[in-house]
Amino acid sequence: MDKTAILAIETSCDETAAAVVANGRQVLGEALASQVDLHARFGGVVPEIASRSHQELINPIIDEALEQAGLTLEQVEALAVTQGPGLPGALIVGLATAKALAYGAGKPLIGVNHLEGHLFANRLEHADLETPFIALIVSGGHTQLVKVEEWGAYQVLGETLDDAAGEAYDKVASYLGLGYPGGPVIDQLAQEGDPSAVDFPRAMIKSGNYNFSLSGLKTAVLYHVTRVKAAGRNLDLPDLAASFQAAVIDVQIHKIRQAADETSIDTIVLAGGVAANRALRERLEALATQTGRRVFYPSASMCTDNAVMIGAAAWPRWLKRDFLPLNAESLPNMRLD
Ligand code: KG4
Ligand code: ZN
Repeated sequence: MDKTAILAIETSCDETAAAVVANGRQVLGEALASQVDLHARFGGVVPEIASRSHQELINPIIDEALEQAGLTLEQVEALAVTQGPGLPGALIVGLATAKALAYGAGKPLIGVNHLEGHLFANRLEHADLETPFIALIVSGGHTQLVKVEEWGAYQVLGETLDDAAGEAYDKVASYLGLGYPGGPVIDQLAQEGDPSAVDFPRAMIKSGNYNFSLSGLKTAVLYHVTRVKAAGRNLDLPDLAASFQAAVIDVQIHKIRQAADETSIDTIVLAGGVAANRALRERLEALATQTGRRVFYPSASMCTDNAVMIGAAAWPRWLKRDFLPLNAESLPNMRLD
């Protein structure tokens, strides 16, 4: 089959990324600059810093991806870019760059939903993943349970009513002085801790719907720390991390199971930055083994934001010639359904 190379750009949050992906599956070149160090001292992403930094990094990152692929801009067939959801100022940098390159080189432009990109990270890495499936998308900005009848047909069954899962990890880590991003640190600490040490609330576990609420858990952690300190006791960070994580994951596993039961869909997919979490993966594997279901999740580096997944998600749109006009706007609240 002929190779169709698409240059994909991702700037929705704090990663400036570009990739050249052929036929939605083959990665020819990839470059990524994480801004983590810039945001770390603020304990979270600062939108203005993110946009400015994307502006500085985007051109060299695109050049690097093309160079790795051994291709010039003229040799790619199309440009793909994250249109939303994400930080408004950050999205604009990627979209404006992609538009300029598409216009200058006379190539079509493809708009990609960032969350669909996270789902496609699975399609790229697991050739045996088939629809329908239930997906839990958990990232710094989103927590959604989605029914995927087929690629492109998404039904959001439920989502968080307040904080996203990754946001909860980041806020708790920041409060405990563990740095940013919080997910990987808490994941690591939790390995050594006892998940039943502190009995944190499992918010909305019995709500009967597929929504989540995570802001109360953050407050519960805060109260716990205050109580321990007031009593003059030492804080056991691994136990705290493991207990916090267990409270998050218990609800997620419960709702995934409920969704799989109610829809009679036996394939479960994890996507987004928090899908890198080891305890979440293990618990889901255990559920799959107990109930005869199949589970898929991306490799750790493909869970967090990258442009390869954007190039993968652009492929079906290329096949349908579903292009974005050059006056299209970024969509900070773009939905999956
Ligand atoms: O998907 P992503 O890279 O960016 C967004 O689209 O938001 O997700 C980033 C989020 C951060 O909140 C980070 O703390 C979290 O993913 N994260 C993790 C882990 N690795 C990254 N959360 C829990 N466990 C991890 N191992
Ligand atoms: Zn993301």
